[in-house]
Amino acid sequence: MEKLALITGASSGIGEEIAKELGQRGYSLFLTGRNEMRLEELGRSLGVQTEWQCFDLSCTEDINRLADVMDARKPDVLINNAGFGLFGDLMDADRGATQSLVTVNCLALTTLMQAAMRAMRDKQEAYILNVASVAGLLPAGPHMASYYASKAYVTSLTLGARQEARERRLPVSISALCPGPVNTRFNERAGVRFALPGKDPASIARVAVEGLFKGRPLIVPGSLIGASACLSHLLPRTLYTKLISGQQRKKG
Ligand SMILES: NC(=O)c1ccc[n+]([C@@H]2O[C@H](COP(=O)([O-])OP(=O)(O)OC[C@H]3O[C@@H](n4cnc5c(N)ncnc54)[C@H](OP(=O)(O)O)[C@@H]3O)[C@@H](O)[C@H]2O)c1
Repeated sequence: MEKLALITGASSGIGEEIAKELGQRGYSLFLTGRNEMRLEELGRSLGVQTEWQCFDLSCTEDINRLADVMDARKPDVLINNAGFGLFGDLMDADRGATQSLVTVNCLALTTLMQAAMRAMRDKQEAYILNVASVAGLLPAGPHMASYYASKAYVTSLTLGARQEARERRLPVSISALCPGPVNTRFNERAGVRFALPGKDPASIARVAVEGLFKGRPLIVPGSLIGASACLSHLLPRTLYTKLISGQQRKKG
């Protein structure tokens, strides 16, 4: 039987490229996002069995609807990728947009991972990739504080759930992808300009899928990004946060 991969945020950027990568590896695909035209266009271009359906993951009913799909379809791979950032100080940000960020980046990702772990428990092997960010390895991100905090949540949740899965001998390997800047629609949506040159999303997708199938806990593409994450553990958290603040100001 063909293996099935379910991907959130497949209508653009990293999710779209991971869909192509898994399609090339022979997976059947279940693509989700909000933009039906883009999902359909991608679905028809992949040359493997592909379904697509729209879910707005800032809305709890849609999160639960997609969790029900997970129960019914029991995918072999979940790519928990949908997410977005907001640039600016927390006190100035739109309340609804801030609530959506926390809902999509944290609540939806948690509910879908939980549903996937249950749906995958009787498989021979299964994989979950949570798309975090290098932001999730740093102490804090002033001027994008809710985004950085949401990604720190993702890396912490991933490592915690991964250990639980190991202790229960579940056949599920759980990883977090922690990229630096990637050239997608992220910037435009977050209202930022990157301080460093962005990477090509196809190369990030390749590294992500290889790392996922090798069972890596944290997949950090690029040595510069890896080094900055390591440095953050050597300096006091408050000092590093001050340094990040200076970098972040340049993004507006
Ligand atoms: N680009 C970067 O520099 C970078 C770096 C580190 C981590 N990341 C993470 O990578 C992931 C993918 O982002 P990207 O860079 O590929 O950006 P992107 O091109 O903007 O793609 C974001 C995807 O998330 C989906 N999405 C956003 N809000 C949603 C919602 N309310 N409901 C359902 N789907 C929603 C979008 O779907 P629709 O377009 O259909 O709304 C889109 O498919 C995110 O989690 C992001 O935080 C990005």
